[in-house]
Amino acid sequence: MARVITFGTFDVFHVGHVRILKRAAELGNELIVGLSSDQLNFKKKGRLPVYSQNDRAEIIASLSFVTETFFEESLELKAEYIKQFNADLLVMGDDWEGKFDWVKEKTNCEVLYLPRTPSISTTEIIEVVKAL
Ligand code: CTP
Repeated sequence: MARVITFGTFDVFHVGHVRILKRAAELGNELIVGLSSDQLNFKKKGRLPVYSQNDRAEIIASLSFVTETFFEESLELKAEYIKQFNADLLVMGDDWEGKFDWVKEKTNCEVLYLPRTPSISTTEIIEVVKAL
């Protein structure tokens, strides 16, 4: 497997994010990260991320094991992004288990779900900080 791709918001960057990206990178030679754009997040969750898309991209791009980042502008374009970046393997956390199995048929890119790091998420961090 040469080119690995993954998608996510990666807002309020935390250790669960580092771990999944590191594990994804170890599965290939290159890791491409599709960052949900601010607009896409607003559509999905009804709120903007805490960190802007440019700041999120700057953080992810600074990781030594990340080759390239781009903004995911629409959930419907996953297959097009995968083809555009010539990805061989799509990695997602297992909160997405089964949801991207269709990608294999449409693009020939393999799909793998990795276990999430327990007990941490951006949503939870926001709740904890709010309650301080
Ligand atoms: N992820 C992980 N372990 C965690 C949290 C996230 O492996 N504890 C993975 C997700 O499965 C996904 C990627 O990190 O593949 C980006 O997830 P994202 O939704 O941006 O992070 P969350 O912390 O889950 O954010 P939210 O609470 O807003 O959903």
